[in-house]
Amino acid sequence: MADGDTSRRGKVTVVGAGFYGSTTAQRLAEYDVFDTVVLTDILEGRPEGLALDLNQSRPVEGFETRVVGVGGGSYEGTEDSDVVVVTAGLPRKPGMSRMDLLETNAKIVRDVSENIARRSPDAVVIVVSNPLDEMTALAQLATGFPKNRVLGQAGMLDTARFTNFVAEKVGVAVGSVQTLTLGSHGDTMVPVPSRCTVDGKPLTDLLSAEDIEDLVVKTRNGGAEVVALLKTGSAFYAPSAAAARMARAVIEDSGAVMPVCAWVDGEYGISGVYLGVEAELGREGVRRVVETDLTDSELAALSEAAEAVRAKQADVADM
Ligand code: 2OP
Repeated sequence: MADGDTSRRGKVTVVGAGFYGSTTAQRLAEYDVFDTVVLTDILEGRPEGLALDLNQSRPVEGFETRVVGVGGGSYEGTEDSDVVVVTAGLPRKPGMSRMDLLETNAKIVRDVSENIARRSPDAVVIVVSNPLDEMTALAQLATGFPKNRVLGQAGMLDTARFTNFVAEKVGVAVGSVQTLTLGSHGDTMVPVPSRCTVDGKPLTDLLSAEDIEDLVVKTRNGGAEVVALLKTGSAFYAPSAAAARMARAVIEDSGAVMPVCAWVDGEYGISGVYLGVEAELGREGVRRVVETDLTDSELAALSEAAEAVRAKQADVADM
């Protein structure tokens, strides 16, 4: 966007100024489509310092979006955000599953959600805290927002990982590859080989069933592989890229169809649960869940994922 262009609009708040939150804020600011990016954290000084630093990068990167840092757990300045990205919570340590974070992160996400509801009652909330499907359900309960205005980021990330692994395996550009993952952001993640293509050709024509299964497993373990290598903290470049794209689709009311964690109400014969599905995003959050053709085994895996996350999502109501 050119300097002086007045088509920048809206405010996006990123809650949590760790690596995930700060890289999300950076990507959102560099898009140059928002008026303001607010970065908050319970730590005093870190979000303010990161905001100063990001603003000082504007002349070099050529964007005008203003970044505001708010520390000390305050939500002053977040009022009337159009979009809020919730990254607050602990990341995994090596060997942990995302579900091991449930109780600790539930307290944090509930508190954050209540603050969002008070300060930004019309916001679209994008949750990225883990365990993702459960924290998304909890944020909806704790904000009391309509279900279309609360969604979670996972499918974009898992799909990006799957695409990257396929491109590396086949030896082509990532831009030649289309993949899809549905289901949970966890053990019941459902990579969808029948929707995977390379230059429009079915992946099943290019790789053996065994090779595809290896890539599926690698995708399911994609986050854990990074955690094991980093030793402290979890992935943030690919996750922040995914979350920022979702926030952008919302503020631009773009109608982009993306795999996200959305409330499912009858699609695929599944109801009453937050689940990874494709959805059309716009100013109101999820405009609609988009059903795709699945093979019988993919549909069975999606139903299994729905039942697994439904049980856990029921637990978060009391957390
Ligand atoms: C991941 O899969 C952070 O859950 C995120 O890397």
